[in-house]
Amino acid sequence: MIQPEQGVHVPESSDGSPVRWAIIGTANIARWNFLPSLRLAGGIVVTVGSRSRESGRAFLADNDLQADVCSYAEAVGRDDVDAVYVATPNHLHSQWAAAAMEGGKAVLCEKPLGRTPSEVEDLIAVSACTGQPLWEAFAFPFHEQWRFLVEAIADQVVGELGEIQSNFHFLVRDPANIRWDPALGGGALNDVGCYPIHLARLLFGSEPKDAAAVMKVGGRGVDAECQAILDFGSGRRLQFSCGLERWRDTSTRLLGSGGEIRLTDPFHPTAQDTITVIRDGHTMVHRLVPDEPSFTAMLRSICSVVAQRRPAQHLANGDALGTARALAMVRTRFVEWP
Ligand SMILES: NC(=O)c1ccc[n+]([C@@H]2O[C@H](COP(=O)([O-])OP(=O)(O)OC[C@H]3O[C@@H](n4cnc5c(N)ncnc54)[C@H](OP(=O)(O)O)[C@@H]3O)[C@@H](O)[C@H]2O)c1
Repeated sequence: MIQPEQGVHVPESSDGSPVRWAIIGTANIARWNFLPSLRLAGGIVVTVGSRSRESGRAFLADNDLQADVCSYAEAVGRDDVDAVYVATPNHLHSQWAAAAMEGGKAVLCEKPLGRTPSEVEDLIAVSACTGQPLWEAFAFPFHEQWRFLVEAIADQVVGELGEIQSNFHFLVRDPANIRWDPALGGGALNDVGCYPIHLARLLFGSEPKDAAAVMKVGGRGVDAECQAILDFGSGRRLQFSCGLERWRDTSTRLLGSGGEIRLTDPFHPTAQDTITVIRDGHTMVHRLVPDEPSFTAMLRSICSVVAQRRPAQHLANGDALGTARALAMVRTRFVEWP
């Protein structure tokens, strides 16, 4: 098992033990973000579900984990697991998130929760039926930076919010990466386009009514890049650009009637990232991000819900279906670049 770092507050269950997790899939995101965040949040990993014992054991060794390795099916059914993190490619999310909830586990599932709105609807129904909480792994609504942003918009610090311009690009060099394969639910829109869409829905507090989009095909036939405009009604719109072919760029602007807010990274901010408020000829730069990996606040919150039955925040039940529908709408509006 991984042990929480010294000085970390461990959310304990009613019997006094920390929340016990299973990871499904020996994914990079589990190594790079989930595990270091879970260490700070005070949970433990008891098992890693893998298609292969060999890669499962290598994952344990690489990450200094004293857990065991089992199949996905065994992991979701175990009695010594409270919560399951589904970190597989996108085509397996709904199958294993559903199986874990049916196995009596709380579930944190990677984004996008499903490949279609109907997969997401089905998962929400399983959560309601089993009474198990379900989260889609968008970490940013749990951040202090997000709370600041939501309050600034509600207080009309930059007037009426009219337009959001948001980018999420990064470079995927490896041709074998899961993002290049349509059969695994790859593509830029599923991988990173979902972030600006989720952000805009939460900030506008409504659903997009229409969209226009262009895309460039790459890899084995996925959208390698996509630019889109989404109409949120009353003149409000999201313009976003996402892709897998250029240097990381998460810059985002929120344009209001009386000023603007600029974020260097609203999605996975580090302690170096800034949020800049510009209005009335003044510019205020804020740094609100603690020096910890970006899943930490989300995992602290989830562990306290699972251990102590605290009220849950940002459950998929309320947040996920609108994003899945918006992604589906953008897909039906694609015009392909020649
Ligand atoms: N929330 C975020 O910030 C964030 C960031 C990055 C990625 N993600 C999401 O996390 C998920 C994993 O992404 P990743 O880049 O970390 O993936 P990855 O490194 O390629 O790992 C995916 C894992 O899934 C398992 N798997 C099952 N079927 C597979 C198949 N047919 N091909 C390849 N692997 C398969 C493998 O584990 P076993 O062989 O052990 O079964 C593999 O190690 C994706 O859904 C992605 O969208 C989220």
